[in-house]
Amino acid sequence: MVDLSGKTLGKYRLLERLGTGGMAQVYKAYHPQLDRYVAIKILHPHLTAEEGFLQRFRREGRAIASLRHPHIVQVYDLDVEDDLCYIVMELVEGVSLKRYLQELDRKGQLMPLREVAHLFDGLCSALAHAHSHGMVHRDIKPSNIILRKEHAGGEIEGCPDWSPVLTDFGIARVMEATWSTASGATLGTPAYMSPEQGQGKPGDARSDIYSLGVLLYQIFTGRLPFDADTPYAVILKHISAPLPAPREVRPDLHPALERVILKALAKAPEDRFQSATEFASALRQAIDQAAEAEQATAVAPSSPQVSEPPRTSRRWGIAAITAVMVLLVGAAAWWILGPGGGPPAVSAPTATVEQPAASLEKATPTPLVQAFTSPISPISQPTQVSPSLTHVITQVQSSPALVDVWIDPDLPDENFFDAGKVHLQGPSTPDRVLFRIDWDAILPQGTRVISATLDVYLAPWGEDNRSATLAAHAILTPWDPTTATYKTPWQTAGMRAGVDYAADPLAEIDLAPWLAEEGWLSLDITPLAPGHSEVPNYGLMLRLTDDSFGMAHFWVYTNEYQDPNLRPRLTVAYEGP
Ligand SMILES: Nc1ncnc2c1ncn2[C@@H]1O[C@H](COP(=O)(O)OP(=O)(O)OP(=O)(O)O)[C@@H](O)[C@H]1O
Ligand SMILES: [Mg+2]
Repeated sequence: MVDLSGKTLGKYRLLERLGTGGMAQVYKAYHPQLDRYVAIKILHPHLTAEEGFLQRFRREGRAIASLRHPHIVQVYDLDVEDDLCYIVMELVEGVSLKRYLQELDRKGQLMPLREVAHLFDGLCSALAHAHSHGMVHRDIKPSNIILRKEHAGGEIEGCPDWSPVLTDFGIARVMEATWSTASGATLGTPAYMSPEQGQGKPGDARSDIYSLGVLLYQIFTGRLPFDADTPYAVILKHISAPLPAPREVRPDLHPALERVILKALAKAPEDRFQSATEFASALRQAIDQAAEAEQATAVAPSSPQVSEPPRTSRRWGIAAITAVMVLLVGAAAWWILGPGGGPPAVSAPTATVEQPAASLEKATPTPLVQAFTSPISPISQPTQVSPSLTHVITQVQSSPALVDVWIDPDLPDENFFDAGKVHLQGPSTPDRVLFRIDWDAILPQGTRVISATLDVYLAPWGEDNRSATLAAHAILTPWDPTTATYKTPWQTAGMRAGVDYAADPLAEIDLAPWLAEEGWLSLDITPLAPGHSEVPNYGLMLRLTDDSFGMAHFWVYTNEYQDPNLRPRLTVAYEGP
């Protein structure tokens, strides 16, 4: 990962990286002349190269910098240097709301009422101010809210020792054209996105009210309102699925609070609170009512325990995957890892090698997941397995054997390719990597496969990587050469065909021990080879099945990757006729 700490950008010295988001890195920086510490957000160059971006960056930048409010991060400057677009802003010392909610979640707690009131007072006053200046945030979510440390030594008179500050005001709009040009889709974070945003409309102040409503729902119930396998499915639910009633999730929630959530989350903007001020006062009243009820009954503790944390929803929920993230994370990772930023290369196999059995390098059928170490050669020690073995074929990159590498074709795959890598991010996103293997193209008639191994190069990405389990599944959907798609009955107009895969994975591997490293994952795919499989299969799918908060990210290097040493390899040992 390229860390720019220690480098100089304009007048600023980059001191340390504070965080990495989907489209940028944020650094703590120092301006020596002014003796001032700031935060600098450097946008991913990949996203800023597009024609017209700089004009938009400067135009929007003026508006963003004009906002001044105690609960909005002050933007000081926007500039471009060495093709890097960066935003200089006030350095906020504190933790993000995202981290804070994760911490509460870990402890099985919900945010106390007085803290919710304090949080929303600040956020609503910030939004009321911005909206009155014609600015809409468009990307309200926990990671864009920093809880600034206000005073040491804990709460004073029941008032939390932090105050909320909104970051990334209007940044979504700066990035908008880039995103929509690249994907034809809309910008925002699906989990927090209003129905109108999901439909590609720009959205007004009431769109921000909706996102605040999602946040409120999450804070009071411990989960997000809508949960689905793909960002698009989440967007669709925001547009048309009925809202799961908050009191069904948490029956002890005061009805007044539920009413506020329901109104903020109305599908039609005209049914919501019409302003942040109106929202704030309704919430205040409801919180007062709930607090009174709590005191009166003395049943509900001020920091209620979550009895049964809804694990799966929460995991997806807190992940808060952005539709734009899916694209941009990829781009950022490319930037961070760099096109040549891989580990030391291992020697590249030649395109097609036929060798006598005695010199077999990889022939023993191995456990499905053989190794994931960094960086090692995927080729194991030479082993003689069968005296009758006559051939071994090693096929790499653009060989007829490994014909395609894709992500889940529910989404246009080209968005997820970046410098020959595919992004894989756990159950919250649709990006499952598919390898289509054309056995017929490489295996002469009448051969028997002894072993087949697919080696793929994996690189973890992101500061928030946590545990993750990678599952390998056989693809069951027949490949249709005439349309060049996998055909499935549930193919949807406007979307590409889905892929049906075997429910039982061939293997599952815990990637946690290797999260800090990158290297080869070696998969024994012998069961997929013709004659070894019970069912017709056409390839292999890799997907992350488990991670905490959906934050594990990986790159899978594809046959497009420019360094042939890091492209996937297929090694097949077979008995010939
Ligand atoms: N002005 C600031 N002062 C201190 N920390 C900041 C500031 N702005 C952003 N950060 C921190 O930097 C990190 C990265 O922020 P960034 O906005 O790039 O990503 P994000 O909001 O986490 O994700 P996304 O890309 O989905 O918006 C976050 O943890 C954020 O809290
Ligand atoms: Mg952010």
